[in-house]
Amino acid sequence: MSATRSARASAPVSPMAWVQRKWLTLVAHTLALTPLLLLVTWYFRDDLGADPINTINNMTGRAAIILLAFSLAATPIYIATGWSKPITVRRALGLYAFLYALLHFANFIGLDYALDLNAILQDALLSKPYIIVGLGALLILLALALTSTKASMRRLGRNWLRLHRLVYLAGALAALHFYWQAKAAARLDPLIYAAILTALLVVRIPPIRHALVRTRQRLATR
Ligand code: HEM
Repeated sequence: MSATRSARASAPVSPMAWVQRKWLTLVAHTLALTPLLLLVTWYFRDDLGADPINTINNMTGRAAIILLAFSLAATPIYIATGWSKPITVRRALGLYAFLYALLHFANFIGLDYALDLNAILQDALLSKPYIIVGLGALLILLALALTSTKASMRRLGRNWLRLHRLVYLAGALAALHFYWQAKAAARLDPLIYAAILTALLVVRIPPIRHALVRTRQRLATR
């Protein structure tokens, strides 16, 4: 670290300046932890509803998919608006999405199926294809979480970027899982999610990305 940078790093920061710099981090962590806090509160108040396993399943599944979408939105927001702050919380949001996906999976195998591996195989994996799709999304999120450190970034070099592009596949598999498990009358939410995910992907297509950046720069110089 240079002398100027280390002096800047050790200079006292006023609470107001800290909040101004970190407000999005605070908002992101608060929002991401809210579903977990709600579940814990409901558990201790015995307020998880008539079907607690279903409540946990829905809350963790929705939290995972929404946080994954927020994490995927950081770069498109930067491309479209030039606002780079969301990129600073992208990794944390992705890790929270993985945490909820893991809780969702643990609820399924631990509480719903009481770790009965035979029933999980026969009744779920072999007869409900949406479970296999969900498992695919979970495994990708696991690989990304395990390689999310700076040390992994250095070790994997260019392959890190290739691996982390799989986050889009995880998003698409999660969308398919969400759609597939829903009853016909409840498919609006999964379709909205799929439309948002498609829009986030479209923004990244090079000609569209370049057109957006050029428009943004032209508007900024007016
Ligand atoms: C092995 C991994 C997974 C398993 C076993 C699994 C299992 C399930 C099950 C059993 C349901 C409920 C189906 C029903 O009510 O009939 C469900 C719903 C759902 N899952 Fe998963 N899932 C997995 C991975 C994921 C992942 C990775 C995500 C998101 C990133 C996800 C998001 C959702 C969502 C959003 C719902 C709908 C919740 C609602 O109706 O409110 N799941 N999942």
